[in-house]
Amino acid sequence: MNIYLCPSPELYSLYHRPNTIVIIVDIFRASTTMVTALGNGARSVIPVSTTEEAETLGRTLGCHIAAERNVQRCPFAQLGNDPAEYTEELVSGKDIVFTTTNGTRALNIAKEHGVEEILVGAFINLRSTLHYCHQQGKDILVLAAGWKGQMALEDTLYAGALAAFAEKEQIGRAADDGSRIHRDLWRAYAEEYTQRIDYIQQSEHYARLVHAGFESAVPYCMSLDTIPIIARLEGDRLRAL
Ligand code: MLT
Repeated sequence: MNIYLCPSPELYSLYHRPNTIVIIVDIFRASTTMVTALGNGARSVIPVSTTEEAETLGRTLGCHIAAERNVQRCPFAQLGNDPAEYTEELVSGKDIVFTTTNGTRALNIAKEHGVEEILVGAFINLRSTLHYCHQQGKDILVLAAGWKGQMALEDTLYAGALAAFAEKEQIGRAADDGSRIHRDLWRAYAEEYTQRIDYIQQSEHYARLVHAGFESAVPYCMSLDTIPIIARLEGDRLRAL
Protein backbone atom coordinates (compact mmCIF):
# COMPACT_ATOMS: atom_id res chain seq x y z
CA MET A 1 0.00 0.00 0.00
CA ASN A 2 1.48 3.34 -1.08
CA ILE A 3 0.96 6.39 1.14
CA TYR A 4 1.08 9.86 -0.44
CA LEU A 5 0.69 13.33 1.08
CA CYS A 6 -1.03 16.39 -0.37
CA PRO A 7 0.09 19.23 1.96
CA SER A 8 -2.68 21.71 1.09
CA PRO A 9 -6.21 21.58 -0.38
CA GLU A 10 -5.10 24.31 -2.83
CA LEU A 11 -2.71 21.77 -4.39
CA TYR A 12 -5.20 18.95 -4.54
CA SER A 13 -5.55 18.78 -8.34
CA LEU A 14 -1.75 18.25 -8.61
CA TYR A 15 -1.86 15.30 -6.22
CA HIS A 16 -5.15 13.65 -7.22
CA ARG A 17 -4.79 9.93 -8.01
CA PRO A 18 -7.66 7.82 -9.27
CA ASN A 19 -8.56 4.67 -7.34
CA THR A 20 -6.97 5.92 -4.12
CA ILE A 21 -8.61 6.36 -0.72
CA VAL A 22 -8.38 9.99 0.38
CA ILE A 23 -8.06 10.67 4.12
CA ILE A 24 -8.98 14.23 5.14
CA VAL A 25 -6.95 15.38 8.13
CA ASP A 26 -7.38 18.48 10.29
CA ILE A 27 -5.90 17.44 13.62
CA PHE A 28 -6.54 20.86 15.27
CA ARG A 29 -9.43 20.34 15.36
CA ALA A 30 -12.06 19.54 12.74
CA SER A 31 -11.16 15.95 11.91
CA THR A 32 -10.53 15.08 15.57
CA THR A 33 -13.90 16.62 16.45
CA MET A 34 -15.81 14.78 13.68
CA VAL A 35 -14.28 11.46 14.76
CA THR A 36 -15.17 12.25 18.39
CA ALA A 37 -18.79 13.01 17.48
CA LEU A 38 -19.12 9.71 15.60
CA GLY A 39 -17.26 7.80 18.31
CA ASN A 40 -19.71 9.18 20.88
CA GLY A 41 -22.63 7.83 18.89
CA ALA A 42 -23.67 10.63 16.50
CA ARG A 43 -25.74 9.04 13.72
CA SER A 44 -24.05 11.17 11.08
CA VAL A 45 -21.99 14.30 10.50
CA ILE A 46 -22.98 16.30 7.43
CA PRO A 47 -19.97 18.37 6.33
CA VAL A 48 -20.73 21.56 4.38
CA SER A 49 -18.37 24.24 3.11
CA THR A 50 -20.14 27.50 3.97
CA THR A 51 -21.76 28.93 7.10
CA GLU A 52 -24.85 29.83 5.04
CA GLU A 53 -25.32 26.19 3.98
CA ALA A 54 -24.83 25.05 7.58
CA GLU A 55 -27.47 27.42 8.93
CA THR A 56 -30.03 26.66 6.18
CA LEU A 57 -29.54 22.89 6.11
CA GLY A 58 -29.44 22.58 9.89
CA ARG A 59 -32.74 24.47 10.20
CA THR A 60 -34.35 22.45 7.38
CA LEU A 61 -33.31 19.13 8.92
CA GLY A 62 -33.97 20.32 12.47
CA CYS A 63 -30.64 18.93 13.66
CA HIS A 64 -27.62 20.21 15.59
CA ILE A 65 -25.57 22.86 13.78
CA ALA A 66 -21.81 22.99 14.41
CA ALA A 67 -19.98 25.92 12.87
CA GLU A 68 -16.53 27.42 13.38
CA ARG A 69 -14.72 30.25 11.68
CA ASN A 70 -11.26 31.45 12.68
CA VAL A 71 -11.25 29.06 15.64
CA GLN A 72 -14.45 30.51 17.20
CA ARG A 73 -17.99 29.14 17.24
CA CYS A 74 -20.32 31.01 14.86
CA PRO A 75 -23.12 32.81 16.73
CA PHE A 76 -25.97 30.95 14.99
CA ALA A 77 -24.57 27.48 15.87
CA GLN A 78 -25.22 25.34 18.97
CA LEU A 79 -21.79 23.72 18.72
CA GLY A 80 -18.32 24.97 17.94
CA ASN A 81 -15.28 22.91 16.98
CA ASP A 82 -13.91 21.78 20.34
CA PRO A 83 -13.94 17.97 20.71
CA ALA A 84 -14.82 18.30 24.41
CA GLU A 85 -18.24 19.71 23.46
CA TYR A 86 -19.23 16.49 21.66
CA THR A 87 -20.27 14.41 24.64
CA GLU A 88 -22.25 11.19 24.31
CA GLU A 89 -25.19 12.84 26.10
CA LEU A 90 -25.34 15.61 23.52
CA VAL A 91 -24.60 13.80 20.26
CA SER A 92 -25.68 10.17 20.60
CA GLY A 93 -28.24 9.29 17.91
CA LYS A 94 -28.10 12.79 16.41
CA ASP A 95 -27.24 14.18 12.98
CA ILE A 96 -24.90 17.18 13.01
CA VAL A 97 -24.44 19.67 10.18
CA PHE A 98 -20.80 20.72 10.43
CA THR A 99 -18.69 23.48 8.88
CA THR A 100 -15.18 24.65 9.75
CA THR A 101 -12.63 27.05 8.27
CA ASN A 102 -10.43 24.43 6.59
CA GLY A 103 -11.42 20.86 7.48
CA THR A 104 -14.84 20.64 5.82
CA ARG A 105 -13.58 22.70 2.89
CA ALA A 106 -10.80 20.15 2.24
CA LEU A 107 -13.35 17.36 2.35
CA ASN A 108 -15.58 19.05 -0.19
CA ILE A 109 -12.62 19.76 -2.50
CA ALA A 110 -11.88 16.00 -2.61
CA LYS A 111 -15.59 15.34 -3.25
CA GLU A 112 -15.65 17.83 -6.14
CA HIS A 113 -12.74 15.93 -7.74
CA GLY A 114 -14.89 12.79 -7.80
CA VAL A 115 -12.93 10.84 -5.18
CA GLU A 116 -14.78 7.56 -4.68
CA GLU A 117 -13.80 6.85 -1.11
CA ILE A 118 -13.23 9.60 1.45
CA LEU A 119 -12.36 8.98 5.11
CA VAL A 120 -11.77 11.43 7.93
CA GLY A 121 -8.61 10.71 9.88
CA ALA A 122 -7.16 11.89 13.18
CA PHE A 123 -4.50 10.59 15.55
CA ILE A 124 -7.35 9.29 17.74
CA ASN A 125 -8.42 6.82 15.00
CA LEU A 126 -5.12 6.37 13.16
CA ARG A 127 -4.57 2.63 13.25
CA SER A 128 -8.20 1.63 12.65
CA THR A 129 -8.14 3.84 9.54
CA LEU A 130 -4.79 2.40 8.39
CA HIS A 131 -6.01 -1.19 8.78
CA TYR A 132 -9.28 -0.45 6.99
CA CYS A 133 -7.40 0.97 3.98
CA HIS A 134 -5.10 -2.04 3.94
CA GLN A 135 -8.12 -4.37 3.88
CA GLN A 136 -9.52 -2.47 0.89
CA GLY A 137 -6.25 -3.12 -1.00
CA LYS A 138 -5.97 0.49 -2.14
CA ASP A 139 -3.34 3.23 -1.91
CA ILE A 140 -3.85 6.21 0.42
CA LEU A 141 -3.61 9.93 -0.24
CA VAL A 142 -3.62 12.04 2.93
CA LEU A 143 -5.14 15.46 2.25
CA ALA A 144 -3.85 17.79 4.97
CA ALA A 145 -6.39 20.58 5.52
CA GLY A 146 -3.82 23.14 6.73
CA TRP A 147 -4.81 26.73 7.37
CA LYS A 148 -6.24 28.88 4.54
CA GLY A 149 -4.13 27.14 1.91
CA GLN A 150 -0.94 27.05 3.99
CA MET A 151 0.63 23.92 5.42
CA ALA A 152 0.00 22.90 9.05
CA LEU A 153 2.55 20.69 10.82
CA GLU A 154 0.06 18.66 12.87
CA ASP A 155 -1.81 17.65 9.68
CA THR A 156 1.21 16.68 7.58
CA LEU A 157 2.70 14.86 10.58
CA TYR A 158 -0.34 12.56 10.51
CA ALA A 159 0.77 11.29 7.07
CA GLY A 160 4.22 10.62 8.55
CA ALA A 161 2.72 8.69 11.46
CA LEU A 162 0.53 6.65 9.12
CA ALA A 163 3.54 5.77 6.97
CA ALA A 164 5.68 4.94 10.02
CA PHE A 165 3.04 2.53 11.38
CA ALA A 166 2.45 1.02 7.91
CA GLU A 167 6.19 0.37 7.54
CA LYS A 168 6.50 -1.03 11.07
CA GLU A 169 3.64 -3.48 10.37
CA GLN A 170 4.98 -4.13 6.86
CA ILE A 171 1.66 -3.30 5.23
CA GLY A 172 2.62 -0.13 3.37
CA ARG A 173 5.24 2.54 2.76
CA ALA A 174 5.81 6.26 2.37
CA ALA A 175 5.62 6.65 -1.41
CA ASP A 176 6.42 10.32 -2.07
CA ASP A 177 8.80 12.92 -0.67
CA GLY A 178 6.10 14.60 1.45
CA SER A 179 5.19 11.42 3.28
CA ARG A 180 8.88 10.42 3.59
CA ILE A 181 9.87 13.77 5.14
CA HIS A 182 7.02 13.57 7.64
CA ARG A 183 7.68 9.91 8.47
CA ASP A 184 11.21 10.92 9.38
CA LEU A 185 9.97 13.90 11.45
CA TRP A 186 7.52 11.59 13.23
CA ARG A 187 10.30 9.16 14.10
CA ALA A 188 12.70 11.88 15.22
CA TYR A 189 10.35 14.20 17.15
CA ALA A 190 6.92 12.73 17.71
CA GLU A 191 6.86 8.97 18.22
CA GLU A 192 6.70 9.30 21.98
CA TYR A 193 3.68 11.13 23.48
CA THR A 194 5.36 13.80 25.65
CA GLN A 195 7.93 14.48 22.94
CA ARG A 196 5.04 14.87 20.46
CA ILE A 197 3.24 17.38 22.67
CA ASP A 198 6.45 19.44 23.07
CA TYR A 199 7.13 19.35 19.34
CA ILE A 200 3.66 20.43 18.29
CA GLN A 201 3.74 23.42 20.62
CA GLN A 202 5.97 25.07 18.03
CA SER A 203 3.23 24.89 15.41
CA GLU A 204 1.30 27.89 14.10
CA HIS A 205 -2.12 26.45 14.90
CA TYR A 206 -1.05 25.70 18.47
CA ALA A 207 -0.44 29.46 18.84
CA ARG A 208 -3.91 30.19 17.40
CA LEU A 209 -5.51 27.77 19.86
CA VAL A 210 -3.62 29.33 22.80
CA HIS A 211 -4.69 32.80 21.68
CA ALA A 212 -8.34 31.66 21.59
CA GLY A 213 -8.11 29.73 24.89
CA PHE A 214 -8.59 26.29 23.33
CA GLU A 215 -5.16 24.72 23.95
CA SER A 216 -6.72 22.19 26.33
CA ALA A 217 -7.76 20.26 23.19
CA VAL A 218 -4.13 19.60 22.22
CA PRO A 219 -3.27 16.56 24.41
CA TYR A 220 -6.56 14.94 23.34
CA CYS A 221 -5.94 15.65 19.64
CA MET A 222 -2.37 14.28 19.84
CA SER A 223 -3.33 10.97 21.50
CA LEU A 224 -3.19 7.80 19.42
CA ASP A 225 -6.03 5.34 18.82
CA THR A 226 -8.36 6.40 21.63
CA ILE A 227 -11.46 6.23 19.34
CA PRO A 228 -10.82 3.26 17.05
CA ILE A 229 -13.54 3.84 14.46
CA ILE A 230 -13.46 4.48 10.71
CA ALA A 231 -15.17 7.73 9.67
CA ARG A 232 -16.36 7.23 6.11
CA LEU A 233 -18.26 9.53 3.76
CA GLU A 234 -21.42 7.89 2.40
CA GLY A 235 -23.18 10.24 -0.01
CA ASP A 236 -23.17 13.57 1.78
CA ARG A 237 -22.86 12.13 5.31
CA LEU A 238 -20.01 10.86 7.40
CA ARG A 239 -20.78 7.72 9.33
CA ALA A 240 -18.82 5.47 11.67
CA LEU A 241 -17.92 1.98 10.51
C1 MLT B 1 -10.45 24.31 10.78
O1 MLT B 1 -11.24 23.60 10.12
O2 MLT B 1 -9.78 25.20 10.27
C2 MLT B 1 -10.25 24.12 12.22
O3 MLT B 1 -10.52 22.90 12.68
C3 MLT B 1 -9.87 25.26 13.06
C4 MLT B 1 -10.14 25.11 14.52
O4 MLT B 1 -11.27 25.32 14.96
O5 MLT B 1 -9.21 24.82 15.30
